[in-house]
Amino acid sequence: MFKKLTLAGLLGLGLTSGAFAAGGEGHTEDYAFSFEGPFGTWDEAQLQRGLQVYTEICSACHGMQYVPIRTLEQLGYSEEQVIAYAESFPVIDPASNPELVDPDTGDVATLKPTDHFPANNALNAPDLSLMAKARAGFHGPYGLGLNQLFNGMGGAEYIASLLTHYTGDDKTEAGAVLYENTTYGGYFGMAPPLYGDDVVYADGTPATVEQEAKDVAAFLMWAAEPKMMERQQAGFVGVFFLVVLSVLLYLVNKRIWRPIKYGTKA
Ligand code: HEC
Repeated sequence: MFKKLTLAGLLGLGLTSGAFAAGGEGHTEDYAFSFEGPFGTWDEAQLQRGLQVYTEICSACHGMQYVPIRTLEQLGYSEEQVIAYAESFPVIDPASNPELVDPDTGDVATLKPTDHFPANNALNAPDLSLMAKARAGFHGPYGLGLNQLFNGMGGAEYIASLLTHYTGDDKTEAGAVLYENTTYGGYFGMAPPLYGDDVVYADGTPATVEQEAKDVAAFLMWAAEPKMMERQQAGFVGVFFLVVLSVLLYLVNKRIWRPIKYGTKA
């Protein structure tokens, strides 16, 4: 019975990781993030820096249409700051955001905190709302998913690694320029967006390429799973509870069978 269960478990792992492994054969750097592990927490300052990188650089090409702007209050911003942020956020691709365009005048509305971040399909760059969950940084070995079991899915690591592992080589294919990236595992269509000092961080952190990459990756992890801490805590409480319950059940079992086994009363 136990053998069968183990086998089924291994097969299950193999099958699921096989599905994710379709993403490519690139190498993902295993960056450390504050939110990893059962006791991980968000680094609020890092999430704020990541938002700054997304706002000033990535949003030019990438939308984030599933993230409501008002949720930025979770990053430690006041209501007034979020209102000011929404109002200053440009709608770069009105055609992809018809609900923001006045059908009569063609005017594009100013964003409010209750709006979502705009979509942006002008350059066919994928939406970043769920990107940190859509990509897996770790695979295998051999489709068993053991790396995922021990290192996690690695979506944030994948994004940080992608932004820092351009080789500098590019080629033109069917009129489009493609850039070589060892994390992507080949050539793809995003020119290197970070060169270092692309932003001036409000908190004075030096804006190296790696710093910017890790910050925006952490921010995108939060965007894709804002309730990650709650999930981890619930999991921890659940496991703790099950351990206590198992010990109690074991002791009760011993006590119930004691008269049969030893012929004595407990
Ligand atoms: C000049 C436009 C532009 C900017 C700026 C830009 N990107 Fe991209 N990005 C693209 C395009 C286009 C693609 C699709 C490339 C492809 O699939 O060939 C892409 C793809 C991606 C992907 C998906 C890669 C994959 O595995 O398929 C991620 C992740 C990403 N970008 C993150 C970012 C982040 C984070 C930033 C900000 C630091 C950023 N991008 C800035 C244009 C841009």
